[in-house]
Order: sequence, then C-alpha cells, then structure tokens
Amino acid sequence: MPESHDEAAVTIEALMDEQRTFPPSAEFRAQANVNSESEYQGGEDFVKYWEKQAHHIQWRSPWTEVLDWSNPPFAKWFVGAKLNVTESCLDRHLVDKADKVAYYFEGEPGDSRTITYRELYHEVNQFANGLEELGVRKGDRIAIYMGMVPELPIALLASARLGATHSVVFGGFSSDALRDRINDAEAKVLVTCDESWRNGSRVALKEYADHALEETPSIEKVVVVARTKAAINMVEGRDVFYHDLIASQSGEKVATETDSEDPLFILYTSGTTARPKGIQHTTGGYLLGAAVTHKNVFDIKDDDVYWCTADIGWVTGHSYIVYGPLANGTTSVLYEGVPNFPDKDRFWSIVEKYHVSQFYTAPTAIRTFMKWGSEYADRHDLSSLKLIGTVGEPINPEAWIWYNQTIGHEKCPVVDTWWQTETGHIMISPLPGVTTTKPGSATMPLPGIGADIVDDEGHSVPLGGGGYLVLTHPWPGMLRTIYRDPERFKDVYWGRFSKPSENKWVYFAGDGAKRDTDGYYWLLGRVDDVMNISGHRISTLEVESALVDHPAVAEAAVVGRADATTGQAIAAFVTLKGTVEGNETLLQELRNHVATKIGKIARPASIVFTDELPKTRSGKIMRRLLRDISEQRQLGDVTTLANADVVKEIADRANSAASKQGSTE
Ligand code: PRX
Repeated sequence: MPESHDEAAVTIEALMDEQRTFPPSAEFRAQANVNSESEYQGGEDFVKYWEKQAHHIQWRSPWTEVLDWSNPPFAKWFVGAKLNVTESCLDRHLVDKADKVAYYFEGEPGDSRTITYRELYHEVNQFANGLEELGVRKGDRIAIYMGMVPELPIALLASARLGATHSVVFGGFSSDALRDRINDAEAKVLVTCDESWRNGSRVALKEYADHALEETPSIEKVVVVARTKAAINMVEGRDVFYHDLIASQSGEKVATETDSEDPLFILYTSGTTARPKGIQHTTGGYLLGAAVTHKNVFDIKDDDVYWCTADIGWVTGHSYIVYGPLANGTTSVLYEGVPNFPDKDRFWSIVEKYHVSQFYTAPTAIRTFMKWGSEYADRHDLSSLKLIGTVGEPINPEAWIWYNQTIGHEKCPVVDTWWQTETGHIMISPLPGVTTTKPGSATMPLPGIGADIVDDEGHSVPLGGGGYLVLTHPWPGMLRTIYRDPERFKDVYWGRFSKPSENKWVYFAGDGAKRDTDGYYWLLGRVDDVMNISGHRISTLEVESALVDHPAVAEAAVVGRADATTGQAIAAFVTLKGTVEGNETLLQELRNHVATKIGKIARPASIVFTDELPKTRSGKIMRRLLRDISEQRQLGDVTTLANADVVKEIADRANSAASKQGSTE
C-alpha cells in the first residue's frame, strides 16, 4: 500500500478487530426480496445472472447476446436490444400504478408537491415535446444545472424520452465549471432555474449560467424553471421559461427507440488531472443495474416510501433518485434543501411526515447529526423506517453504531454501499435479508459482481491482507468510455492491472481496501490524488490549478487531510509571487477564488503560505509530507528532499494556522 495510507491502514487494522456483528433478524430475512445465501455468493456465471434479471426492465425487442466482451475494455451489454428507459420508468406503471405517488417533493421553504406516476408521465412528455420544438434530437447533449426541484428529474427523463444525452452539472458548481462541462459535451440546450433555495438563501443559478453562457458557443436555447420567481435576465430568442414552453404541449409523446448501447448520460467527475472526466453511461445495462440493485439492496416493496438524500447532480441521485426507483415503481421523497433548515431536525421531520421506510444518506451527514446530538432525531417518530443506508465514503464504526441506534432504533439493517460514478450502480454492499453486517465494512460484492484485492503486481492478496480494490469482470452499469477520450478510459481504469497479452482485463477503482478473514471488504479511501470531501470527489490538481490561476500565486500544492466530519478537508500550501505578502485578506481571496473557479465544495479549509514547497531533487512536490504536516503526524522520510529545511518551517506555520483556521465553511 502507498505510504499515505499507513495511517488509514492502522485504523482499519483496529476496525477489523471489531467483533460486533449484526445478522439480519429472522423477521426481516423472512420477508426480504433476496434471502438465500446461494444467491449472495453469486456462484453462478455472472452473465447468466444478469440475463436472469433482465425482466426487471421493459425492452422493446430482445438482444442477440447478453455481453459482448470481444473488444475489451469496451463492453456491450444486451447487444442489439431496443428500449427507451422512460418506458420502464413511466409508461408501464400506467397500467397498475398510475395513481401511485412517484415523488413527494418537499421544498426547503416548506412548500410541497405530490406527483403521481400519471402526472410524471404527462409532464415528462410535455417537456420532451417542448425540447423537441427547441430542436433537440436523438443523440444531442442537454446540459442541466438546477436545484433539487421536480423539474430536475423531469428534465432527465424528457432528455431520455427523446434519446438525447443528459449531462447534469451539480447546482453547487461555479460558472467556470459549468462552462467547461457544457463545452466538453458540446451541449445544445441548457436547462436551469431562476434561483434555487439553499439554507434559507437564494442561489442565483441563472446569473451563474448567464456568465458561463458567454463562452459556450454550442448552446442554442436555455430553458428556465421559475423556482423562486425572481426577476432575472432573459435573453430574447435564446431563453424560454419552462412553464411557457410546456403550457401548450401534449402530455403524450412516443418515446424514441434507442439501442441498449446508445448513450443515456454523461456525468463529469474528478480524476487525477485538472480536467474532469465525462463518464459515459449507456442505456439497457445501466437501467437494469440500477433497478435490480435498488430493489435488492434497499429491499423495496410496493408500499414503501423511499428517500435518498443525495443531489441529482451526483451519480447517487441519477441511479437512486431517478432511474432505479422509477424503474421499480417506487414512491420517493425528493427534498430540496439542507438538513438544518429551518432547524437541525429537518430530515427527521420529513421521515415522520412521509412515513419514510428506507433512508439513504452519506457518512458525512451522519457524523454531522452525531455532532448535533440525538435530541433532534428523538423529537420525531421514526418508527416507519425499515432500512437505512450510506454511501460516498468509508463510514467509521462509531458513526455506523450511532446511525443504527439513534436512527434505526436497532431494528433496521444498515447497508453500507460501495460504488462510483463509473460503476453506475452499487457494487459492494450487504443484502439486508442475507448478510451479517460489521460496522465499518461494506461487506461483500453483490451477486453478478466480481471484485478482488490485489498487490502492486496485480496478484490477489489472501484474506486478511490489503491492497488495491479491483473489479474482475464487466457489469451492466459500467462506464463505457470517457466522453471523447477512449485512450484515457483505457489507461486510467484498465491500464494498471490488466494483462492484455493474457486477455486478462481488470478494472482499477482507485481505492485501497482490506479483506478480513471472513472475506469482508473494508474500504480505505482513494490511493490516487483524488480527495473525498463530504463524499464529493475533488482532484488535488483541480484545486491547485484554480489557486495558481490567481495572479498572486506562484505555486500551490493541495492535499486531503483527515477531518472528523467531512471525511477529508482540503489543505492548501501556497507560494506567492515575488513580494506579495500572505495576509488574512489574501487568504480569504484565494479561498473565494477556488470557489469561483470550481465551486464552494472545493474551497480549501486551510491555506498555509510558504516560501517553498517540499520537493524531490527531480522537482516533484512531496504531497506525502504535506499530508503528514496537515495531519500533525510525525514526518515520514525526508532524505529524498532537495530542500529538507523547508519542511520544518512549513510545519510551524501550519501548526499556528491550524489554531486559526480549520473551518470547512
Ligand atoms: O473512494 C470511494 C468512495 O467514493 C468514490 C466514488 O466517488 P463518486 O464517483 O463521487 O461516487 C460516490 C457515490 C457512489 C469511491 O471510489 N466511496 C463511495 N462509497 C463508499 C466509498 N468509500 C467507502 N465506502 C463506501 N460505501
């Protein structure tokens, strides 16, 4: 394992001594969607397994082959099959679920809207007709930059209805980030909001979008959802209000037929360079993977009310607010805002109000709730909950136990689900009616999924050991490529451990992991230069280039340091140009500069000004040492440093800065 993970490894060592185990109750097991060990072990051939699941979604015409893996690492699933994902998500439910609620929308200010499957079908079609009128055709890219309002899932579905490709850009990203993503995808239409609500304040989405649109030549039309009804700039001939556009449109629209391998969406995520990667997902396999894992991992029943608190701007929202739940005809809660508005009990009041049965959130949220104290959850009746889940980063056993006790009241299975933007759906997770859970472990790969832990040479590490997490065979929701960059796709994910000469193809996830003697997986975090801040992926290089973009900065190095609430926090080390003085005002300016370039989530928690950065003789910045400094650890080996004396000085400055800074707000 790389040195930077020594610390984590020690922690995991301790975790693996964790003796507490939580088998499913006999009661839960008896009613579970999946309750047999044999299914869990995935003993059968994975291709057969997925073919057997294929009935979960609706196809127009069948495939000639389940998996074509003749041109690795480019996979095709359900070859030649035709479908439109919205027919699985909407049309087929009109038969027996037309009046069932698809979404309970809860606005942050307290307004709400209930949308049945019939209403959703109707409005998606209206918007699809509207988009078509604006010129959208099959294969076009639609950029979506919105708050969490019902028109957001409607926009995804309307895009899919037309066989277009959506690219959702999280509403917390900056103008520059939006511009770059629009340009990379060459999107034709942008769907946005006038403003969104966040923590009681208005976020000026249209204003940010207008700024981005100054440099996005591919955009022809902009559709604006009037969420707050603020007075905004509307450009004649380019901008149209959503409500005006759909007003005269029919609620019927024949779905465009797509191939199983036609693109469904692109979602940008951070890699180890400054340029985000457009993760390309396709149609049939993705929808199937999302639907089956949603049903099995969350044990979804027809009368459940399911709530995933993620934002649809991230993959979790795509797969587990939109496609998975709708394919299963599930009733979901869609909440617009933050957990502490107007008070810290907002989530629990929503659980009580809608009788939520499955609740899916992130460890960073759970740790925040712990910090706030149990009283907020205790104010509400949470007895409707049957299962609780987490995603996005490793969950420490303490938080797991708190979640189990305070939210689950020790009667709800806890599902810790490991997956990525690239995997499309959950890969490693308990099956709640089968798996005995251990606090802090995502347990084992799901049926139909192959994983392993390998050493530097790619050899499988025996049980009890640690190394790199890899996926050993294709799966239906896997990314098909990086948009317009197949070489980077091959290199980043398949280059490290595959042996093409032996036709052995192994996907490298970028995570370190250990496996205990029972075969349970314990995730250790990223082993590359990708940070995980509150479950959001941010590349160190992205933040470094944003800092260096500021006229006062000569050089910058960024590391993720451990943080009790956000998992990791961004620690920056900055060398200023010439005679520029590093004072508090500049420090705030730099933090804001990063927020402008990328988004507030990427704003460094701390910045230390330094005359020099620690470098090897070949000029490489030694981030490992900066991480040691940030986490106030004994410094590792400094013998390869060209400028060893600089380290002590940085450490002193960092220590004095730590007492002043450290807030991630
Ligand atoms: O490091 C792993 C971590 O989040 C990364 C994927 O991030 P992203 O593509 O943004 O998707 C997040 C939501 C699916 C992974 O490489 N991660 C995700 N889930 C877990 C996790 N780490 C530990 N345990 C998890 N359950």
